[in-house]
Amino acid sequence: MARRPLVMGNWKLNGSKAFTKELIEGLKAELAGVNGCDVAIAPPVMYLAEAEAALAGSQIALGAQNVDVNVQGAFTGDISTAMLKDFGAKYIIIGHSERRTYHKESDEFIAKKFAALKEAGLVPVLCIGESEAENEAGKTEEVCARQIDAVINALGVEAFNGAVIAYEPIWAIGTGKSATPAQAQAVHAFIRGHIAAKSQAVADQVIIQYGGSVNDANAAELFTQPDIDGALVGGASLKAPAFAVIVKAAAAAKN
Ligand code: PGA
Repeated sequence: MARRPLVMGNWKLNGSKAFTKELIEGLKAELAGVNGCDVAIAPPVMYLAEAEAALAGSQIALGAQNVDVNVQGAFTGDISTAMLKDFGAKYIIIGHSERRTYHKESDEFIAKKFAALKEAGLVPVLCIGESEAENEAGKTEEVCARQIDAVINALGVEAFNGAVIAYEPIWAIGTGKSATPAQAQAVHAFIRGHIAAKSQAVADQVIIQYGGSVNDANAAELFTQPDIDGALVGGASLKAPAFAVIVKAAAAAKN
């Protein structure tokens, strides 16, 4: 079954009001007329209003980098699914390794976020991936399986219908050292197979992005791999020309 690729920009803790408008204007110009790939950006939530306004009428979808499990009430500092929906955000990153590390988010807590997003009709972009030490110890598959099973155990495999998984080996994030296409493909095939063991239909449609030092020079080769359905892009998503090259590479490779 043909899966439509998704290339998503994760701006992380970068930007300003002016930067948000400028980058989106650049993306709209660079991506006009490009079809065959879904595109989304996740600016800091502070700038969702600017981004929503700048994206009006474009094909680029809005996303966010995190969400809380609670919808309303006394939860100081948190942002709900309803608030993200209010700004038209659709693709919501959860379980990014930076949040797992700096905010001690557990697999079970992330599964609750996944549930909250499904409940709200938003698309979870579940980040998974092993550390360098885990990789060297041969634990990549074990770690990815555990992170996926937390969602399957809580919600059932059907929760991955319409959802996105981003395989992001931690050693490749922001290091300039991407996984090779063959390395990434092997893990993506494992992830899809792991889901297929529960439901082939769910596995066939789930989008599995690769993330970790994807750039305009290495994207095309990554997208030649059958189980790589796009990318979650950090650093290279902050420049419109580089991000556009990645989107165009996905559109070209998958159509
Ligand atoms: P990077 O980040 O592209 O800068 O490596 C990817 C990510 O963390 O989502």
